[in-house]
Amino acid sequence: IPVDRVSLVEMGPRDGLQNEARILPLEQRLELIARLADSGLQRIEVGAFVSPRKVPQMADSAALFEALPRKGPTRYGALVPNLQGLQAAIAARVDEIGLFTACSDGFTRANIGIGVEESLIRFAPLVAEARRLGIKVRGYLSTVIACPFDGPTRPKRVAALAERLLDLGCHEISLGDTIGVGTPGTVAPMLDAVLHEVPAGRLAVHFHDTYGQGLANLLPALERGIRTIDCSVAGLGGCPYAPGASGNLASEEVVYLLHGLGMSTGVDLDKLAATGQWVSERLGHGNGSRVGRALHAR
Ligand code: HMG
Ligand code: MG
Repeated sequence: IPVDRVSLVEMGPRDGLQNEARILPLEQRLELIARLADSGLQRIEVGAFVSPRKVPQMADSAALFEALPRKGPTRYGALVPNLQGLQAAIAARVDEIGLFTACSDGFTRANIGIGVEESLIRFAPLVAEARRLGIKVRGYLSTVIACPFDGPTRPKRVAALAERLLDLGCHEISLGDTIGVGTPGTVAPMLDAVLHEVPAGRLAVHFHDTYGQGLANLLPALERGIRTIDCSVAGLGGCPYAPGASGNLASEEVVYLLHGLGMSTGVDLDKLAATGQWVSERLGHGNGSRVGRALHAR
């Protein structure tokens, strides 16, 4: 793989739709996923096997996987919080699972009902079982800059937890600025600390764009050799258990920037932007991507 090749992990159908007031019917979620795959995205997180009482938007993830066309090169992932979720994900034949914890107990408790240490103890046998079955495991580490409950996170804390997730057997660690408060001034030292323990090739960045810093924050990640980026079509997204969080950094913005830098993504920006406009209309609100709006107005 040439060094200028960047891999995008599309979050729209999961992180995006989990935070939308309007629940899209299964048929439209399937169309969204098909359009995203057709635009060239090869990794798409499409569901979550979590409590339907906590996140009703993801309740029909099993039915969704059942109906997904599995022809092309695209791999489909889903979040898993516990053994019950892992069993459901295995039954649904997911290509990759995502386990999720955070750097702070406040957010972890609000999100999954237990503290950080307990979550790592819970995850150990889940990773082992998934790997035994040949399912890749991504580890999400949230609140890498700050927690909505516990305040700022120390870079050394992020580094230590990222290393532990790697040691558990995760193939990749996604570093999440869950509430989107970071700037390059806080993101760069966080990445430097993590890169001390985990090689760039095993890291992804997951920026929420609450304060409009997502693209700026991408630069220190690219400069440090990170080549896997989480993003969400039309900037959809946010965690319902992180007060004040808004959507992910928009996929259209990321593709526009990377292509401008001469890097390749394999994504057709026009198709992606048309999909962002399409899903925004289905959701009944404005398109959260500036690039998407600009291309739509052309
Ligand atoms: P709990 O209530 O402590 O679980 O929830 P429990 O084991 O006591 O079970 C209670 C009920 O939930 C039972 O049902 C279980 O069957 C059911 P009842 O007997 O009462 O009818 N249940 C489940 N149902 C379906 N699937 C499951 C499951 N597990 C239990 N897997 C639990 C604990 C972890 C389940 C819950 O807190 C939960 O589902 N949390 C997930 C919250 C979530 O999805 N948050 C959003 C994703 S994280 C995120 O967005 C951040 C990220 O994007 C990165 C970033 O931005 O930083 C990844
Ligand atoms: Mg997120």
